[in-house]
Amino acid sequence: MKKLKVGFVGSGFIAEFQIKAMAQVRAMELTGILKRSGAERLASMAEELDLGPTKIFSSITEMANAVDAIALYCPNYARLEAMEEIVAARKAGALVYAVMCDKPLGRNMKEARMMVRLAEEGKLLTSYFENQIHMKAITSQLQQLAPQQKSMGPLSLTRSAEEHAGPHMPWFWDPTKQGGGVLSDMGCHSIAVGWYALNPIGKPLTYLEPQSVTCEVALLKWGQPQWREKLLRERGVDYSKTPAEDFATGVVTYKNPETGQRVKAQFTDSWMFDKQGLRLFMDGMGPGYAFEINTLVSPLSIFIGDAASSQVADQETALEKSTASRGLLAVQPNEADLYGYVDENLDATRSFLRGQHALLPFTYGLEITRLVMAAYLSAERKQTVDLTDAKTREELETYIPLIQQGRGLEQLC
Ligand SMILES: NC(=O)c1ccc[n+]([C@@H]2O[C@H](COP(=O)([O-])OP(=O)(O)OC[C@H]3O[C@@H](n4cnc5c(N)ncnc54)[C@H](O)[C@@H]3O)[C@@H](O)[C@H]2O)c1
Repeated sequence: MKKLKVGFVGSGFIAEFQIKAMAQVRAMELTGILKRSGAERLASMAEELDLGPTKIFSSITEMANAVDAIALYCPNYARLEAMEEIVAARKAGALVYAVMCDKPLGRNMKEARMMVRLAEEGKLLTSYFENQIHMKAITSQLQQLAPQQKSMGPLSLTRSAEEHAGPHMPWFWDPTKQGGGVLSDMGCHSIAVGWYALNPIGKPLTYLEPQSVTCEVALLKWGQPQWREKLLRERGVDYSKTPAEDFATGVVTYKNPETGQRVKAQFTDSWMFDKQGLRLFMDGMGPGYAFEINTLVSPLSIFIGDAASSQVADQETALEKSTASRGLLAVQPNEADLYGYVDENLDATRSFLRGQHALLPFTYGLEITRLVMAAYLSAERKQTVDLTDAKTREELETYIPLIQQGRGLEQLC
């Protein structure tokens, strides 16, 4: 069986999740990892999972000569530079011919457009890694409800949410590095999966045409003195100077180009979800039918009483971003599969080995960036952003949200 040889740029949190996913895809090898923090540990995990042999490379250029595809799992602020090096290596004749980039594609339209342009310049096959679209629960509801969509008509409303108590690394909290707060970090997931689930079955990804975006952002928890101080103490990020939003909610309105019907996708994201841990929630309403997904509902729950709580091994083995290690715990035994990482790797592998772009190419990531930017603009102006207006679309091309500029104090209080 021909296998896809993959090289990682980034060996932190998502990279670890991704190798657990790759171990569930037969035709993948983790051939290389760029020498950075966590690389050695990840390489030995890969060997244990039979994904190796895995070599640690001291540069992207060197790794590009040994792999078919490079996966960008580095921080948002380091994407473009990595992509430039991949393209330069490719132009100089390196083996690499494909690239995956985890969300978001860019912190703004300029960056996302550069990523698309560079991929085209390097004639690289692309996969924008938006795992939620690949969740088996999303795919299954589409299959199950296909007859209803056909006989009754498509969905008219989706709601999607991703929430947890806050990110694990300081750079995520810094809006100038990450691109903003929770809207940039997790809003891109909810906006993408909402649009995807709303799209009538069998139609192209961008069939439903975005018409307008209305959004509100707020700093509800991490701006309060005791939480702000905790953030400064533990992460070195000062929200009294450069705050970012920990809550975002909004609605994107789409038009069906054939019927003219207006449909809506609502999104809600927060870093102030003080429940068991990460929760992804999606639902959708069609005429006479509906679906609902809640990743905190598991067939497995575990109880750990006070007397036994000191023996807890690692609360995050139960659930990503777990906040508790005793009591009745929600446990998800295969999160890499639940959240769609397995299926996004499978899709990229199959597509690349066939010489095709994946289901979600970089150009799709660019469209999601446009919607996220429109959401920030709406929140900043406190008005609905009209995406059918040519001037607004042009403005979004160079727009950098105030929060991303480090000027969140002017907007959030
Ligand atoms: N799909 C998801 O649900 C999901 C979840 C978490 C993170 N992510 C995305 O994955 C990316 C990485 O996030 P993470 O949580 O793994 O971060 P992390 O901080 O845990 O890991 C980042 C890794 O990149 C390395 N790195 C730092 N600077 C670099 C540079 N200039 N060049 C190359 N490598 C560099 C670090 O050493 C580390 O190994 C982010 O873009 C994030 O948005 C996606």
